Amino acid sequence: MSHTPPDGLTSNLTTWRQVAEFGPALVAWQAVHGRHHLPWQRTREPYHVWLSEIMLQQTQVTTVLDYFERFLQALPNVQALAAAPQAQVMTLWAGLGYYSRARNLHACAQDVVRRFEGQFPSTAQQLETLPGIGPSTAAAIASFCFGEPISIYDGNVKRVLSRVLAFDGDLSGSAANKQLLAEAQVLVTGLSLHAERSGSPLHEAMPRYTQGLMDLGATVCHLKAPVCERCPVVHNCNAHAVDAATDYPVKTKRLKRTSERWYLLCLDRGDAVWLQQRGNAGIWGGLQAPLVFVSIDDMALWLSANHVAAAHQTLSVDDLSALAQPTIKHQLTHKELFLTPVVLRVNSPQDNQDQAKSGHDKPFEGAWVLKSQLASAALPAPIKKWCATQFL
Ligand code: ADE
Repeated sequence: MSHTPPDGLTSNLTTWRQVAEFGPALVAWQAVHGRHHLPWQRTREPYHVWLSEIMLQQTQVTTVLDYFERFLQALPNVQALAAAPQAQVMTLWAGLGYYSRARNLHACAQDVVRRFEGQFPSTAQQLETLPGIGPSTAAAIASFCFGEPISIYDGNVKRVLSRVLAFDGDLSGSAANKQLLAEAQVLVTGLSLHAERSGSPLHEAMPRYTQGLMDLGATVCHLKAPVCERCPVVHNCNAHAVDAATDYPVKTKRLKRTSERWYLLCLDRGDAVWLQQRGNAGIWGGLQAPLVFVSIDDMALWLSANHVAAAHQTLSVDDLSALAQPTIKHQLTHKELFLTPVVLRVNSPQDNQDQAKSGHDKPFEGAWVLKSQLASAALPAPIKKWCATQFL
C-alpha cells in the first residue's frame, strides 16, 4: 500500500491505524528486544534517572556507565550533590564534555532541595522549571519514574517518527518540530487508550514505551542503514512503504563546524604542573587546564608580562616554538580544536608561581597539581589523555 493518496496529496498526520498500533507494538518489542540491563533502568529513583539522562544527552551509553557508578558512589543522593563543592562535581564530570551540564546539575540539585524539599517533582511541566532540564529530558524522567503519558522528543524520536509518518517538514526549523512533537504526543495517546482498554497499567507501559523509542532509534532505525526487517512498526512505516526510509528526517541546514587552534602552556616544575582554574563560560568552563593562548606570540607576551622564565632566561617566540609538542585534534559537535601543547620546564617553582602572580595586575587563578594527581583532576578529556602519555 502506498503512503501517497490517489490524488497525489500527502499528509504528515498520523493515521488512526498508526495511533492504535504503534505504541503497543513498540512496548511488546521493547520487552523482548530492547535494552534492560543498564543500571539506570533497574530503578525508578528520580535522582538516578535524572543523572543518567543528563549524562546521556551528548554522551554514549558505554562511556556513561563508569561515570554514572562513580558519581553515585561519591554523591548518592540529591542532598549530597546539592551540598558538594562545585570542584568535586566538576572532577566527577571531567572527561564527559559539555561542562555546562555539570554546572546545571549542581544548580538543579540545589533547586530540588530548596524548592521541592529534596523530592524531584513528578510532572514534566514542573521538572522543566529546573536548571538543565529541557522538554525531552523532563518527559523522559516523568515517563520513566512516574508513568506520565508524555513523549520524549530527541534525535531518535525525530528519526523514527519522521519515517513512520513520512514527515517531510524541515526539522532544522521550529515549525516542523512543533508539528512532529504534536504527532509524537498523539501516538502516546494511542498507548494510553490501549492501556485503558486492555486493563494493563500505563505506569508500566510508559517507561517501556520511552525506552522502546530510544532503543529502536539506537539499534534498528539507524540514520544511514536502518534494519527495517527487524523493526516492530515496519507495517506502519510510510517511508518504508515507498522504500525511502533514509530520505527522512528532512533537514536542509547542515551543521557548521568551525576550527580553532589553541596553544596550551604547560608549566612543569618537575613534580607538578600549573593548571589554570577556568571560569564558568566556554567549552572547558569550570575545569582545570593549562593556560590557553591563540598564538605562540601571545604566549610569549604573557610569559614576559608575568616574569615567567625557564632557567631565568627570557623566552623568545622561536624558543617556545621549539618546545611545541605534536598537535592534538579534538572533535566537538560544533568545533574542531587543534591543540598544541608547549611544555616549559621551570627551575624554581615557588619563585615562578609567586612571580607569575605578582607580575600581573589581575592574578590568574590556578594551582600546582602534582603529576601523580593528574588522573583524578578535573581536566578536559583530551588534556587528561595527553597528560597520561606525557607525565605518568
Ligand atoms: N539515551 C538517553 N536516555 C537513554 C536511556 N535511558 N537509555 C539508553 N540511552 C539513552
